Amino acid sequence: MQAALSGYSDAPMRRMAKRFGAPFTLCEVFLDQFVLNVSKKRKARFYLAVKECDHPCGAQVMGSDPNEIVPAALRLVEFGFDLIDLNFACPVPKVLARGRGGALMKDVPRALEIAARVRDALPVQIPLTVKLRKSFDDSPENAEHLFDLLDGLFRLGVSAVTLHGRTVRERYTGVADWEIVRRAAEFVHARGGKMLGSGDLFSAETALKRMAETNVDGVAIARGAIGNPWIFRDLNALYAGEPLPSPPSVAEQLDVIREHWSLSEDLYGFRRASTEMRKFLLKYAEFHPRKEELRMAFVKFRSVDELERIFKVYYETADEGKGGL
Ligand SMILES: Cc1cc2nc3c(=O)[nH]c(=O)nc-3n(C[C@H](O)[C@H](O)[C@H](O)COP(=O)(O)O)c2cc1C
Repeated sequence: MQAALSGYSDAPMRRMAKRFGAPFTLCEVFLDQFVLNVSKKRKARFYLAVKECDHPCGAQVMGSDPNEIVPAALRLVEFGFDLIDLNFACPVPKVLARGRGGALMKDVPRALEIAARVRDALPVQIPLTVKLRKSFDDSPENAEHLFDLLDGLFRLGVSAVTLHGRTVRERYTGVADWEIVRRAAEFVHARGGKMLGSGDLFSAETALKRMAETNVDGVAIARGAIGNPWIFRDLNALYAGEPLPSPPSVAEQLDVIREHWSLSEDLYGFRRASTEMRKFLLKYAEFHPRKEELRMAFVKFRSVDELERIFKVYYETADEGKGGL
């Protein structure tokens, strides 16, 4: 699936992921209070609108008070999301200071209370899933909590968890621990649940290898999908036993960038689309034979004309993008 990615997994990114074969996509995390207070205007349109083409699509919510997170989850269902995912993993210090996100990895009773209250309140046909990290930190007492949490979550009717093999304290440093994902998957399967793994999946080959090694039911592709929707096409091909498709040609890269750009501009308008898309463009540039130069050009453009000129010079020349400004 396309993982939840704050600042990235907006509707345009999710639509691109889906078009390239991601069977399921997840929004970036929403704070429960944001969901409760947002009016049905601009912000709701940017963040919470679900179109026919988006299904199946999940919303991720974060909070520490069941009295807020429950109505927020219900509101997300009203907006049309097919699944609710609880975030017990976010490592941002401000979030932890309020007992939200990753702080719940060391407060098992509260985490289970939140999950139980949300599960009870949601319509039965809406699955509840949870995003976890391997532990809050490296201390032995906190390491114990993962299995208590998993046991409790599946007892109360959670459908699946996604486990990121890093501690909250590690944030995104070091290497993700897939051995803990393997052990947790075994534990979860013994309880009839489903487990997805997350961490350092930057290519389809790695994702497939991790699936085979750990017996997870799926993987969440996160940073590896930024400016690379082809990762879903590639993973589907490998999973079906087919050869790895060739990397996109420069012409294909441009088609996909234009498609992503147009989804973004339709949603946000040019100004905001430029900000949202620039971070994707820098990643799309990784596929280009002259990536360094192209990255500099993507950092600098200020108008549609300048962007079109970049496209023309780097992508529309006949010799596989060997032009230059
Ligand atoms: C910029 C960024 C934003 C993220 N936002 C979220 C989020 O909103 N919700 C969530 O559950 N995980 C979030 N994550 C974690 C990812 O979903 C994923 O678990 C993590 O990046 C490990 O996978 P990777 O190493 O393949 O990127 C975020 C990660 C990054 C780098």
